[in-house]
Amino acid sequence: MNNYFSINDIDSLGNWVNEAIEMKKNPLSNKTLGTDKTLGLLFFNPSLRTRLSTQKAALNLGMNVIVMNFTGEGWSLEYGDGTIMDQGTSEHVKEAAQVVSQYCDVLAIRAFAKLENREDDYNENVLKNFIQYATIPVINMESATGHPLQALTDAITITEHKIIDKPKVVLSWAPHPKALPQAVANSFVEMMQCMDADFVITHPMGFELASQITKKVPIDYNQENAYKDADFVYVKNWSSYNDYGKILEDNSWRITAQKMQLTNNAKFMHCLPVRRNVVVDDAVIDSKNSIVIKQANNRTYAVQLVLKKILENI
Ligand code: CP
Repeated sequence: MNNYFSINDIDSLGNWVNEAIEMKKNPLSNKTLGTDKTLGLLFFNPSLRTRLSTQKAALNLGMNVIVMNFTGEGWSLEYGDGTIMDQGTSEHVKEAAQVVSQYCDVLAIRAFAKLENREDDYNENVLKNFIQYATIPVINMESATGHPLQALTDAITITEHKIIDKPKVVLSWAPHPKALPQAVANSFVEMMQCMDADFVITHPMGFELASQITKKVPIDYNQENAYKDADFVYVKNWSSYNDYGKILEDNSWRITAQKMQLTNNAKFMHCLPVRRNVVVDDAVIDSKNSIVIKQANNRTYAVQLVLKKILENI
């Protein structure tokens, strides 16, 4: 594998999930694979889990890691072709990507949606330009439209915790005071279509994700109905795709213990960070059915597997 841009770069999901679960039993089993190799992490947005799990995974493989928070520290980058750069941008991605490639062997980038212009975001300008001009493999640490490391983590976590072959999985929209991208939800929807799951999405009307991503996945606008018999409830807010970036603060969609009682003793999942008592009640996230910390732990093994596959190909 060269780049990890989306879950389409996974050639065999079942094998990858099994390999990650095996790797988790002995995380240092490939501790010399990355010797003398450097991973560069470029962050255009904040992070806790992605940054630390990726650093940890790289260290487990024996890699060196260098990190740059671009916002505030890096030059403002230009992505347009042929732009006369006499305004705010100081450096073109053409040079930046090639320069970073001189210092690193693998590059990982986080660049969220700006939620101003849907076409710009869904063109994946930042990540696609880095992939085009870098001369080293590039990993997506959450781009404008996808979070494939989180989705691989979620596949590992569901596989570990399912007690029937084909569990019912519900992706449940929840309220949030700020406009959030669709990236996590998009990649989760794509991942669930690759897994053996009875998958349903529930959200308020008008909060449909892109139809090219949801395809034929059933949507239930009645949250309580969707929760019936669920084995996993995966909660995430996203802002509107159709009325791009619009938010809805509808408290009636918050995840409560009462709603979880409608399920088949479902596990509660969330990628984190989460706003307690806005998205989900304390009683749910603190319950024994909440697997959010185990899910966060699996971030290390998802990205370690991706790094391993890239290092084996360098
Ligand atoms: N889930 C996730 O990507 O967390 P961070 O934003 O903290 O990296």
